[in-house]
Amino acid sequence: MADDVDEVENFQKNDNDDDDQAEREHFIRILNAFKFYRSHSMRRVYMAEKSFNGIPQQHQKYIPHFLDNLKTIQTCISHNYEIIRLIIKDAEYMFENKTHEADVKPEENLKQMPPTNFDMDKVKTTLKQFVRDWSTSGEEERKACYDPVIAEVKDLFKDRDPSTVAVLVPGAGLGRLAFELARCGYRCQGNEWSLFMLLASNFVLNKCTEVNCFTLYPWIHQWTNNKLSSDQTQPIKFPDINPSDLPPTSDFSMAAGDFLEVYQTPDVYDCVATVFFLDTAHNVISYIETIYNILKPGGYWVNLGPLLYHYADIENESSIELSAEEVLRVVEKVGFVIKKDAKEISSTYTQNPVSMLQYRYISVMFVCQKPHEPNSS
Ligand SMILES: C[S@@+](CC[C@H](N)C(=O)[O-])C[C@H]1O[C@@H](n2cnc3c(N)ncnc32)[C@H](O)[C@@H]1O
Repeated sequence: MADDVDEVENFQKNDNDDDDQAEREHFIRILNAFKFYRSHSMRRVYMAEKSFNGIPQQHQKYIPHFLDNLKTIQTCISHNYEIIRLIIKDAEYMFENKTHEADVKPEENLKQMPPTNFDMDKVKTTLKQFVRDWSTSGEEERKACYDPVIAEVKDLFKDRDPSTVAVLVPGAGLGRLAFELARCGYRCQGNEWSLFMLLASNFVLNKCTEVNCFTLYPWIHQWTNNKLSSDQTQPIKFPDINPSDLPPTSDFSMAAGDFLEVYQTPDVYDCVATVFFLDTAHNVISYIETIYNILKPGGYWVNLGPLLYHYADIENESSIELSAEEVLRVVEKVGFVIKKDAKEISSTYTQNPVSMLQYRYISVMFVCQKPHEPNSS
């Protein structure tokens, strides 16, 4: 019997060792992607320069500022890289319950693991996320996406002391919605899975202590659909408010990890607020069930977002793509009572406001409640 127990423990230990190893490799991979930002981006500028050198001299004469503009772009890339260096500085100590000290051996890792284009795209997306969450340029986008959710939460809990209301924001991105809810006095936790986002939100929330103390050039990688050449090198300042200005009594945290794995304890939250999150699931029904499970009886779920389904049409990834109508049907079948039904909200997402190409989402927003008494049907 004792041997059996030992064996089980050994299996568990091996599993845990494998998990730790995978986590370490993942951490190194993401860090390396950030570290490659400068050389990766400069290579793109070099390609533009090469194309310029390849066209007839007469054509080159028609565009005398082309190379100067490339020089400006290079300067902006170098500047962005300085911000990235700050983002990843001390990254190994970012988590309260874990250190990655042993994983940060820069030169060695760079040689071992060149980043994929996918990871490099994530780095560039992370830069744009600063615009959405922490710059005045993102204000309109935030008004469209976050304000209706905050207004709804305020209305739902208007009769309660906010410090007694526990709110969870899964897929929190750079943390602005969760921060704003904490600023309203709610006990708020943001949950995020991506290390790109976690490193960046850690930088804003814990290391930025003055309004607009940093500059980024988020559109530098947009080579097409620029009206003016200078549009590509437009700066933004961040953070537009001081993230350390939360009242001392506020209860605000960010938790790292997969939403489905981290949140398994039932009846914990008074409210779950999801914005542009639902469609990140392989199986959206699991998200809905988990939200139902972690809400206290009588708790509310406020959702706003499109149904882009991040895993749709990605090779070897499973993805269940339900329509909004089907999502709402599942929401009810899981046990929720729909309080407000599929209101349409028009918004952008990390959109360059002056680009000649504009994407717009017509999101659905709904509010539903976990009944006080479990549904007997
Ligand atoms: C489209 S972004 C939206 C971010 C933020 N809510 C906003 O509106 O800007 C979706 C976010 O969910 C995160 N995410 C995806 N799957 C997740 C999971 N299983 N657990 C936690 N976060 C997840 C992604 O990393 C990403 O930051």
